[in-house]
Amino acid sequence: MSTFTMDTSTSRATPSPVPGKRMTAPSIRARKADGKTEQPIVMLTAYTMRMAQLLDPHCEMLLVGDSLGQVIYGLPSTIPVTMDMMCAHGAAVVRGSWHALVAVDMPFGSYEGSPKQAFDSAACILKETGCAAVKLEGGEAMAPTIRFLVERGIPVIGHVGLTPQAVNVLGGYGARGKSADEAKKILTDAKAVADAGAFCIVVEGVMEEIARTVAPPVIGIGASAECDGQVLVTDDMLGMFERTPRFVKRYDDLAARIGEAAATYAAEVRDRRFPTADQTYRPKA
Ligand code: KIV
Repeated sequence: MSTFTMDTSTSRATPSPVPGKRMTAPSIRARKADGKTEQPIVMLTAYTMRMAQLLDPHCEMLLVGDSLGQVIYGLPSTIPVTMDMMCAHGAAVVRGSWHALVAVDMPFGSYEGSPKQAFDSAACILKETGCAAVKLEGGEAMAPTIRFLVERGIPVIGHVGLTPQAVNVLGGYGARGKSADEAKKILTDAKAVADAGAFCIVVEGVMEEIARTVAPPVIGIGASAECDGQVLVTDDMLGMFERTPRFVKRYDDLAARIGEAAATYAAEVRDRRFPTADQTYRPKA
């Protein structure tokens, strides 16, 4: 069952305060019209309605990443993430946004089997969430699938370099492209994904600066300032975790601030300083 309300003035999910202003796949693609992007594209992950509301005014794209497996559900990797998880969080993020293009990750096992399997899964994600694009991992091997989806009306974001769903093949989450062969393979993958019709490509954890070598915008995560845009996992950027990859810049230290707030609350409850009269219902005098 669909979880969103169609706004007919925008043909997009959720009522928009500025009808028709939501970013689209063509408008993102057009940001790199003549081979260069004047203003870098801003993308962050979002998994909840409230976080989407807070991030939306600042971003061109919100990614409902399958990183939610680790960030929200405490899973050891993205492998166990399900379609149900992606659809529930995707719908919440669409409901909380009106400006950014919302893209939802296709979870492991939902698209690799065949282009037909990928189409069925992607169509389900679009119908259930109201998002405007899906992202899937993989290079040359996934190019026919990307073409199949795009030709059938589903905008696709590619994802090459470090592809976390392939952790069992890669053997870890280390940077990719250290050897000349590996770097060449990443370039070949990016080109294949671009040729297949992806409107932009996430490039993760790579040595090589490949932003200039493919036509669509390249959104980097640990992939240098050469990229046409940048994406980070929002919880990393906000300092919610003690350990973060080297490429993450922390713009806040929310874990410490939440810990302090919880400690103050706990102390006040134990000392009976909370609640006070200000937080207490009383009969009218
Ligand atoms: O799942 C995710 O959050 C991602 C980003 C790291 C790009 O794919």
